[in-house]
Amino acid sequence: MIFLTTDSLKFASLSNSATDLPTLINSMFDPTLSFADLEWIRSIWDGKLFVKGVLTAQDARKSIAAGADGLVVSNHGGRQLDRAPVSFEALAEVRAEVGAGTEIILDSGIMSGADIVASLCAGADFVLFGQAYLYGLMAGVEAGVDRVIELLAKEIEANMQLMGAATIADVGPELIRRRPGRE
Ligand SMILES: Cc1cc2nc3c(=O)[nH]c(=O)nc-3n(C[C@H](O)[C@H](O)[C@H](O)COP(=O)(O)O)c2cc1C
Repeated sequence: MIFLTTDSLKFASLSNSATDLPTLINSMFDPTLSFADLEWIRSIWDGKLFVKGVLTAQDARKSIAAGADGLVVSNHGGRQLDRAPVSFEALAEVRAEVGAGTEIILDSGIMSGADIVASLCAGADFVLFGQAYLYGLMAGVEAGVDRVIELLAKEIEANMQLMGAATIADVGPELIRRRPGRE
């Protein structure tokens, strides 16, 4: 309701720009970016380094080789490249490539506790979500976001109970039954 009854949203940091928003956003992407840049970031950053937007075994391999500590399997919420792979479906391939020792975060399309439980089963260590919390934010500001988190937590609990998983450590690949041909 707040979203419908107040002024339209503005990006304060972009409001002084001389050009329109799509042109400005496109100008932010650097087509020369490569894994050599990742190696450079690694050389100047001692903290944890995660690469976001990995959807293939090949990119996972190159990211780790360039010094990444972990990966975010993500298609950025499906907002960038139409027809990009579904991140959940890319997860098994990426996990198989990097093995159990590398942290993997999954995002894009997490809308329920069942999505979170399924992602943990399929190889994610944890998940992120963007649009789900924004729905709560638009509906009820801070209390709306709290409510989204509360609902997700309840759904996780209900799903784990129904699956017979007592702790997060019990949520693993053995709980997944894949359809033939989609292994
Ligand atoms: C309003 C908005 C702005 C975003 N901006 C960026 C960004 O600048 N860089 C980026 O890597 N991802 C960006 N994302 C994508 C999120 O980091 C995240 O990958 C995505 O929201 C996850 O998918 P979900 O929204 O389906 O949960 C943005 C998402 C939203 C909703």
